[in-house]
Amino acid sequence: MSQQEVILVLDFGSQYNQLIARRVRENRVFSRIVPHNITAEEIREINPKGLILSGGPASIYGSHAPKPKKELFELDIPVLGICYGMQALAHMLGGKVTKARKREFGHAELLIDDFEDFFAGLEEKTICWMSHGDYVSQLPPGFKRIGHTDNTEFAAIADKNRRLYGVQFHPEVAHTPRGSKIISNFLFNICGCEGTWTPQSFIDDTVNNIREAVGKEKVVCGLSGGVDSSVAAVLINKAIGKQLACIFINNGVLRKGEADRVIKTFKKHFHINLRYVNAEARFLKRLKGVIDPEKKRKIIGHEFIRVFEEEAKKLGKIGYLAQGTLYPDVIESKSAFGGPSATIKSHHNVGGLPLNMKLKLVEPLRELFKDEVRLVGKAMGLSNEIILRQPFPGPGLAIRVIGDITKERLDILREADLVVIEEIKKAEFYREVWQSFAILLPIKTVGVMGDERTYENVIALRAVTSADGMTADWARLPYDLLERISNRIINEVRGVNRVVYDISSKPPSTIEWE
Ligand code: XMP
Repeated sequence: MSQQEVILVLDFGSQYNQLIARRVRENRVFSRIVPHNITAEEIREINPKGLILSGGPASIYGSHAPKPKKELFELDIPVLGICYGMQALAHMLGGKVTKARKREFGHAELLIDDFEDFFAGLEEKTICWMSHGDYVSQLPPGFKRIGHTDNTEFAAIADKNRRLYGVQFHPEVAHTPRGSKIISNFLFNICGCEGTWTPQSFIDDTVNNIREAVGKEKVVCGLSGGVDSSVAAVLINKAIGKQLACIFINNGVLRKGEADRVIKTFKKHFHINLRYVNAEARFLKRLKGVIDPEKKRKIIGHEFIRVFEEEAKKLGKIGYLAQGTLYPDVIESKSAFGGPSATIKSHHNVGGLPLNMKLKLVEPLRELFKDEVRLVGKAMGLSNEIILRQPFPGPGLAIRVIGDITKERLDILREADLVVIEEIKKAEFYREVWQSFAILLPIKTVGVMGDERTYENVIALRAVTSADGMTADWARLPYDLLERISNRIINEVRGVNRVVYDISSKPPSTIEWE
């Protein structure tokens, strides 16, 4: 592991953990979220520049309250406790935490008592975001108050000798307008960070790490054309060139022109060793007559693995499988606090892991957030068309042709889909919305074209805004844009005589129709 500076965010269950990690990274300092009970040994091994104890839902006096190890405060590493993290810090070091009668929630005016380091460059009064029940009522020995509000005497505290800090409010959220400055003060004035983590430094480090880990072995990578697998493939190609073999499977439910685009970009432009497998007929045969959305997903998932394994076998001995796993997947799968949630739709990764191949994994993006993946992709010369792509589901158009899937119906949807993308891009809404696409419905309706009665298909249009796909709202697209899309689809796509717009939010509806 290279000696880059890192800040550890100890996870006490806050919904803002990832936000804290990202705020740190915005300052070009690498951050990592770790369990709250990480030991002093483990921390010493990582040798971080500072620790941030996150907030969390617990009360320090609760029977299952997560507590940091006391030794953490004796490592001579700066610590910042946020909300619950500050209470935990105060409690462990001999201060007193008291249960509030009333929860404090919302904006508060922070009055700063000390501008020396932590609050350097701030105004005397600033707005901060509070969300807490308990509060620190007595400071631990060695601490002093550096900020207060009307309601909270110890809104910010510090033991400057030991470089231990605490804030009752949340500097990581946008509702604390000077929060970024406070976090950067902690990083640069207190932890002594330099801010050297950039997309290029990430690329250089990762290329070295991949070379070291993989040695002379071969790596196989399933390329989907999406952002994550594309960036992973280009990165690994940079590291080991021809030792990497990418497999791109045409599963018959891709968008129009997608296969050509992928081949052109990766084979011709990046000179990646790419195997293109046209398995359209195989997939469509298995999907024939299948109506149930979950069955469609399973069939596509299983078939993908089968084709992938067959192709991989042809490559000879392989040591590694590359995957475009991102940081949020890693944290979620490890979080001690996340409960199991009901499966609404089985997904979310293309095909999943080929189970009986017994390969080791290369996951070069597993420490990055999505926007960072984009920056890395950009730094390596990937086009905006790939980097800024809207998410596209693994089962592709199969879950957008509602009901029975045939090549003919897929082709109708492909043409309509193309019109949607073209018009949305032209109107500069492509990046404004989270996803925008067409769905082919399993009903026909009556229309009139010229003097003739028609009885044709209906296309539904779906465009949603969302931050992460978990919740979404239908996009308020301008009427004239909707009109253009509708006109073009009805005029240009044979077999369609009606277009409707989906105005449901998620929940209770989902983004995809199946
Ligand atoms: P839903 O429809 O559940 O979609 O609101 C949320 C996000 O997930 C995508 N999605 C999928 N992605 N395999 C995938 O890789 C799937 O089976 C799948 N189903 C939905 C969807 O496009 C949206 O971005």
